[in-house]
Amino acid sequence: EKGTYPHYMLKEIDEQPFVIRNIISKYKEEDESIKLDEDIRQAMLDADRIYIIAAGTSYHAGLVGKQLIEKIANKPVETHIASEFLYNMPLISENPLFIFISQSGETADSRGVLVNVKEMGHNALTITNVPGSTLSREADFTLHTYAGPEIAVASTKAYTAQMAVLAILAVDTAKAAGIQMDFDPLQELAIVASAMETLTDQKEQMEVIAREYLSVTRNCFFIGRAIDYFVCLEGALKLKEISYIQAEGFAGGELKHGTIALIEEGTPVVAVATQEHVNLSIRGNLKEVVARGASPCMISMEGLQESDDQLVLPKVHDYLSPLVSVIPLQLISYYAALHRDCDVDKPRNLAKSVTVE
Ligand code: M6R
Repeated sequence: EKGTYPHYMLKEIDEQPFVIRNIISKYKEEDESIKLDEDIRQAMLDADRIYIIAAGTSYHAGLVGKQLIEKIANKPVETHIASEFLYNMPLISENPLFIFISQSGETADSRGVLVNVKEMGHNALTITNVPGSTLSREADFTLHTYAGPEIAVASTKAYTAQMAVLAILAVDTAKAAGIQMDFDPLQELAIVASAMETLTDQKEQMEVIAREYLSVTRNCFFIGRAIDYFVCLEGALKLKEISYIQAEGFAGGELKHGTIALIEEGTPVVAVATQEHVNLSIRGNLKEVVARGASPCMISMEGLQESDDQLVLPKVHDYLSPLVSVIPLQLISYYAALHRDCDVDKPRNLAKSVTVE
């Protein structure tokens, strides 16, 4: 039930801090270590390469998952769009593990890949919000994202939950492999939950940003580098899906290779900078578009901010910044859709789960 909320989407955005705390409690042993099925731990350890398969927002979580597993657990990962995988099949390693990420567990494109890889005799793990769903039943293992039912067509809390579980999985694998690290995902996720709360308490500010930048525009660009780029892809998907504004996420450095031709007087460009090593270069990219007339909206993180940034996110660990930087993008999309009189929870032409190929 959406209770006092005008829309499920807003309720689900607000639920994210609770979801993250719920995940922490579900994945924590009494001695504060990570609780994970021994078979999954072993499957991760045994795999010589991981193939993440997903669609839409879950694919965007998979892009972040690749970074996390490669950086933390030092294992090679490829993330693939489910509907493309069978047509553009990559070389498969000797001993792969396939990870399917799906909120619903019913996405036909992902299932098509699962059926195929099971026929090939490979191991599959499904990360889903619906244990007992088709993708969960047909895989060898399941990890639950514990986000609670997600009703709005635009996925919000499932995305942050998927990334939280991927971070826990990455660290568990690293520990099992004997890799030393000082990153405790359960502790860091608690900091993320508080940061999310700070942002969901700033709705008025997001509403103002949406009104100023997005109430009449035809298009909008999101730019970022490194892990911020993946969040930009998600921010753009959210915006186009519910507000029908043509929105695209780009890697900051790629703009000058063509897309910058689209910048006109007043074109909104949202830049995300949460990582120190790309902070200056993304700000440079923003200056390039401002010189061509763009209206800039800079979202940075504490420690990296400059005085005229539109929004400064509370500081969280670099690995987990997508869970926090996506919150303003979700809220901005929500308010943009409201300003444009769109049906937030049930956007045109879309279904909650896509069960046809
Ligand atoms: O249930 P799934 O996670 O497999 O769904 C995948 C996509 O259809 C889904 O994420 C879609 O992109 C959302 N509507 C995005 O908000």
